[in-house]
Amino acid sequence: MTQHFIVIGNPIAHSKSPQIHQVFAAQIGIDIGYQRQYCPDDTASFTAVVEAFFHGGGIGANVTVPFKQMAYDCSLTRGGLSEHAKVAGAVNTLLLNKDLLEAGLPIAEALYGDNTDGQGLINHITRLGWPLNGARVAIIGAGGAARGVILPLIQAGIGQLTLANRTMSKATDLVSELSNASPTINQHPINTCTTADLTGHFDLIVNATSIGLSGDTLPLADELACHSAYDMMYGRALPFLQHFAARGAQTSDGYGMLIGQAALSFERWTGQVIDVAQAAATLKNQSA
Ligand code: ATR
Repeated sequence: MTQHFIVIGNPIAHSKSPQIHQVFAAQIGIDIGYQRQYCPDDTASFTAVVEAFFHGGGIGANVTVPFKQMAYDCSLTRGGLSEHAKVAGAVNTLLLNKDLLEAGLPIAEALYGDNTDGQGLINHITRLGWPLNGARVAIIGAGGAARGVILPLIQAGIGQLTLANRTMSKATDLVSELSNASPTINQHPINTCTTADLTGHFDLIVNATSIGLSGDTLPLADELACHSAYDMMYGRALPFLQHFAARGAQTSDGYGMLIGQAALSFERWTGQVIDVAQAAATLKNQSA
């Protein structure tokens, strides 16, 4: 029997999720339908789309820009949130809470929200063979993307963590907010500074700003160096990666993170484990 999934966004035509999830389904030999679902940018439309999908027998939905907060609010008051979704303040994966359904709640009250974005980063970095245990890590950016990767990085066993941002107050506010929300983060001291003041040698620097979309460049200090540089953006030449590649660092864009977060969503929905490296190789061959 065909299992049905969607990705909800606005815009959504560009989404690579259908192609990625079909590769996962082929790998484990199940039949799925995975559609892009456009939705007007308002809460009532989003809720209607989600409820219609699950009432129609849908198994799982991915949620992308601009609906991740709406999906969070929707799950918070209904079927609940995973710890990662709570800390990220955003949901990228919706499913039905089976315990609530079995307890007799209607489908609309059983919507459960998870967030696999940050763990998708860990999944990709692990595939790259970049060591995280004890690593000195800097994240640049203090918006939604940075917020989602802090808990997974700490859980992966990193050593020092520095959060740098153009607007310093946003970095310090984010650290105090997350420390209050998560005992794991609270037990791990996080340094903060402005992006221009970020100096020293790091094992890993992650660009979690949205600057790749703007064509601007980050003000990176000459005294800033790293072994590995990761940009959460993908699909274009990224000046952040070019900067560190020219200084001898190994680099990666965020396409593998996209595959990693998708695999984790797929695993939540189906209970099956994906060989992500093999799926990534298949996708690379498909686009060659
Ligand atoms: P996202 O959800 O993608 O993280 P966001 O919440 O709007 O998007 O956050 C964007 C991040 O990119 C912020 O850290 C922002 O810095 P500020 O907090 O100072 O605004 C950062 N950013 C965006 N454009 C930037 C630029 N031109 N230079 C430096 N940082 C930039």
